[in-house]
Amino acid sequence: VIDIAPLFKETGAFTYDPGFTSTASCESAITYIDGDEGILLHRGYPIDQLAEHGDFLETCYLLLYGELPTKGQKEDFDNRVTRHTMVHEQMVNFFRGFRRDAHPMAVMCGVVGALSAFYHDSTDISDPHQRMIASIRLIAKMPTIAAMAYKYHIGQPFVYPRNDLSYAANFLRMCFAVPAEEYEVNPVLARAMERIFILHADHEQNASTSTVRLAGSSGANPFACIAAGIACLWGPAHGGANEAALNMLSEIGTVDRIPEFIARAKDKNDPFRLMGFGHRVYKNYDPRAKIMQRTTHEVLGELGIKDDPLLDVAMELEKIALTDDYFIEKKLYPNIDFYSGITLKALGFPTTMFTVLFAVARTVGWIAQWKEMIEDPLQKIGRPRQLYTGATERDYVPIAKR
Ligand code: ACO
Repeated sequence: VIDIAPLFKETGAFTYDPGFTSTASCESAITYIDGDEGILLHRGYPIDQLAEHGDFLETCYLLLYGELPTKGQKEDFDNRVTRHTMVHEQMVNFFRGFRRDAHPMAVMCGVVGALSAFYHDSTDISDPHQRMIASIRLIAKMPTIAAMAYKYHIGQPFVYPRNDLSYAANFLRMCFAVPAEEYEVNPVLARAMERIFILHADHEQNASTSTVRLAGSSGANPFACIAAGIACLWGPAHGGANEAALNMLSEIGTVDRIPEFIARAKDKNDPFRLMGFGHRVYKNYDPRAKIMQRTTHEVLGELGIKDDPLLDVAMELEKIALTDDYFIEKKLYPNIDFYSGITLKALGFPTTMFTVLFAVARTVGWIAQWKEMIEDPLQKIGRPRQLYTGATERDYVPIAKR
């Protein structure tokens, strides 16, 4: 029997909501989602308009400051970010401490957490100036760290940032350029990368953002909080789903094997799930998935990839799942990860980098939500309660008598 009387006495109310399916953890003015209608707005602006017309740093500005920047504000913001793209040269040694075959997300957790050891002049969270510098540093350095994790993983020398390029173009160059060889960034691919970043920039109180807020609620510095968010994002039920979705498409392999996997997804005795399908909030088409689907086709068209077997499997799987009673009844639609994996693969990234790219994009969402929380006068440490189901009080038994 669970006794909730003490909890009720303290608070006058008690809710038990595993997975927080119906509990708001905060007030926020950043991102709005209507999961039934498939709507996603950042500061009121629809995601499709931001992805279509803007660039990633504009979305960053919007998430951080609440308004779209004027031309002057945009130039100033872009300059501030690009001034901070380098990482401390000593961090190179830090990378070298990792095994080459380490998963790049393991490297990201460690290196981003270590930023607080290199940039202590922006860890005083009570100082608004330091908070802003930390935010800019994180947005600026994440692509550099991600690209370094990639280069280290494949055994190539690091490529330093080029600040005359856009956020996405610079990132592609840091990942794919090889020193002493010419590398021209393809503008169609850079635009696709930019769009992937915009689509992943924020998504209100998802698991990793809630982790960042919870870590930040104790007063931890922003670099440590973002490292906590990266760790949470890694899981296959969250950011790891794009890697898992592509691995699943490879495992299915050919269109004729799809029914077998659909049957497994429906079988309650089989833990298998169709990766890239379903969402806690969207019970309709994920609006980001629609834009991602279009971007996938643009990238494949630009690269002249006509007959990608993975894409054939993905298209057929989507078709079958959207007409299958099980998926209709449970409102399981393809989510953004279903398409982002195919696009990232076409761009040249190995699957192990997929969640890293998600982390690069989501950093601005995490930091905007962290700032909003720190600046809220009602902010207090997040401290959930529990339903205790353990033993009742009993006396200690000496080891000889157990
Ligand atoms: N394949 C098969 N069945 C599924 C799937 C799926 N992908 N997703 C949910 N279901 C079923 C569940 O078995 C459950 O069935 P039941 O009611 O008979 O028990 C029902 O749908 C509801 O599922 P829950 O797990 O309770 O839903 P929840 O909201 O907790 O989970 C989640 C959402 C984690 C995204 C889930 O749909 C899933 O695991 N999807 C696959 C992983 C994935 O794509 N994650 C990416 C999420 S988006 C993002 O992070 C950017």
